[in-house]
Amino acid sequence: MSTTEVDLSQVAEGQMVTVKWRGKPVFVWNRTPKDIAEAKATELSALLDPVARNANLAADAPATDENRAGIDHEKWLVVVGICTHLGCVPIGHAGEYDGWFCPCHGSEYDSAGRVRRGPAPENLAVPPYNFVSDTKISIG
Ligand code: FES
Repeated sequence: MSTTEVDLSQVAEGQMVTVKWRGKPVFVWNRTPKDIAEAKATELSALLDPVARNANLAADAPATDENRAGIDHEKWLVVVGICTHLGCVPIGHAGEYDGWFCPCHGSEYDSAGRVRRGPAPENLAVPPYNFVSDTKISIG
């Protein structure tokens, strides 16, 4: 199966890049401490979708920031860039929750890629990936 390697050393703090994995956009975001703090401060009860949707964890793992971000690399957020409503590509660094805004029907995602305003029913999916080193990930 095809994998996509991403050189994280080219992604500055605060920057979000889009790579392709199996024909899909994947967002790779080097989050700032503020982005991370906001995500951690959000109560699970405030989330529309309480499940992590992280292919690297159990299917019922809760959608904490820890379960959404890179394992032992919390500043990195890697998500499939397809809105879980009807599949548009959300716009990064946009919306009230400092994550993504979907221009098709107005869904909003936070700085952990969790849906905070519908109609999207689920958090942005975290694809299977791992850290090959501190500065490289392999998706897929
Ligand atoms: Fe994103 Fe409908 S496709 S809100």
